[in-house]
Formats: sequence, structure tokens, C-alpha cells
Amino acid sequence: LCAGVATLVSTAAMAAGMTVGFSQIGSESGWRAAETSVTKQEAEKRGITLKFADAQQKQENQIKAIRGFIAQGVDAILVAPVVATGWEEVLGEAKEAEIPVVLLDRGVEAPQDLYLTSVASDQVKEGRVAGEWLVKTVGDKPCKVVELQGTVGSTPAINRKKGFEEAISGHSNITIARSQTGDFTRAKGKEVMEGFLKAENGGKDICAMYAHNDDMAVGGIQAIKDAGLKPGKDILVVSIDAVPDIFAAMAAGEANATVELTPNMAGPAFDALEAFKKDGKQPEKFIITESKLYTPADNPQGEYEARKGLGY
Ligand code: AHR
Repeated sequence: LCAGVATLVSTAAMAAGMTVGFSQIGSESGWRAAETSVTKQEAEKRGITLKFADAQQKQENQIKAIRGFIAQGVDAILVAPVVATGWEEVLGEAKEAEIPVVLLDRGVEAPQDLYLTSVASDQVKEGRVAGEWLVKTVGDKPCKVVELQGTVGSTPAINRKKGFEEAISGHSNITIARSQTGDFTRAKGKEVMEGFLKAENGGKDICAMYAHNDDMAVGGIQAIKDAGLKPGKDILVVSIDAVPDIFAAMAAGEANATVELTPNMAGPAFDALEAFKKDGKQPEKFIITESKLYTPADNPQGEYEARKGLGY
């Protein structure tokens, strides 16, 4: 019994004192910045030493960082994979070194035994929720949509497109007229939307803008205003993330709907890692976070204030 207790105590202490490497994508959006700061806060709260590496949007930097973490012998690795493919080799190296890997907020196309668990939203559902909101809002009216896609090859870009298309299929009055990547950034969202406005009769032919994240929507809103139109009225605006700036736009009547993505992926990830390290408990392969719809009916000013200070 004594030996058992001693083992339990030492493994518990080991979990609390873990060193975890975190390969983050970069800082392309307000949501990403919040995820980074929440992860750092969660680690500190739990007595975990976090080794942070910013990949500046490049998969090669993420692979280099992961190899560095393996060489340092960290206890676990968190990775937010910028794109879906190309991970098998490096994840295999982590597995070989017996270092558990947790995927954060984006998925990979690789065998599931190469990672311990994935903490992410149901991204197809996010797109579907956005599309269903549009279907309900426009009813039978004809509606030409322009779509600002996320980073090419990333799971949120692939899945949010898919979910939205699923929701509008069977509603022939709603069509996606143009679709292009804005790389999840505000600047690119604005630039791409400027092109869409020019190509669509100065924007007069556009009924709605669907952006795969709020930052691109905020950039697009600026482009709509610069074109002399009213975002939120002349052109409906629906996007994903629920960052403070989209609530500010909603409060100003310039955005119509957003689907929440929690920036706290690290909480469930560390819970899973701690349980795994303490008693070998295998977590669920996919830990799915919620996708809640917000509209101007949901006190956008209050939501803005509640989110400020949460790491955004
Ligand atoms: O992977 C999550 C997405 O990445 C967020 O929706 C977006 O803002 C970020 O860049």
C-alpha cells in the first residue's frame, strides 16, 4: 500500500511540474492572440513550465519547433497545426520518443495513434450554424453571398466552407458568388473584399458576406464602408470566433451574427495530459468545444466588455 501511495504521489507531482512545448501558428487573428495568452495563463496556474514557439504561419517552423521539443525531452507537446497535411513524420518522431502530443483548435490528416487527443470545435458545425442563420434571415429572397475563406489547407477553412454549403444547399435563392482566401487576417480580408465589391457592381449585387473568422469580417466591414455601403444592412455580415471587435461592430449595427470559438483550448488539453500522466487515463480522441451563435439580440456591448480582459 505504502509503495502504491508513494507512486501515486510522485506521478501527481510529476504532472504538476510538467514541461510542455507549445508550437503556436502565429498571431494572425485576435482569436489566436487570445488562445496564446489563455494557454500561458493556464500553464502558470497549474505549475506547468510552458516552452512557447511562434511559427509565424509556417509549417516548416512548427516541424522544427516540435523536433526541438523532442530533443529537449519535454513531457508533452501542444501543437496548433497551421495546415492539415504533412505531419506524419514529425508526429511519428514524437511517438517514438514517447512524448504525448495534443492538437489544439485545428486538425491533421494523419493516423489517430500519432496524437493523444485533439481539442477543437466542430468546424463543420460552425459553418452550418452560420449558414442556417443566413437561411433563416433571408427567407425566400435572392441572396448572393461572398465568402472570405481561412488559410488554404487548414481544417477550419475546409470545414467551415463545407458546413456553410451544407446549410444553404436546397435553398436555391442563396448562392455563393465569390470565394477566396483572406488567410484569417484583417488586412487580407479587407483586400479580398475590396476586389469582391468591385467585381459585384460596387457591392450592390452582394447580399451577404460570410467570413471564416471575425478578423476577416472586420476587414471586410471596413471595405464595405469605404465603398459607400452600410455593412450589417446593405450587406449582411456573418462570421466565426466571437472576438470583442465583432461585438463592437454588432453594437454599431455593422455585423449580424458570429459563432463562438472558445480561446480556452489549453484547459481541456492540460486536464487530459494531467490525467494521462497521473494514472495513464486515455482521454477521448476528440474533445469538442461548443459553437454558440450570437446576434445583436444577445447584448453585444455586454459581450464585448465580458471578453475584454479574457486574454483578447
Ligand atoms: O483555428 C482557429 C482559427 O484560427 C480561428 O477561427 C481564426 O481566427 C484563427 O486564425
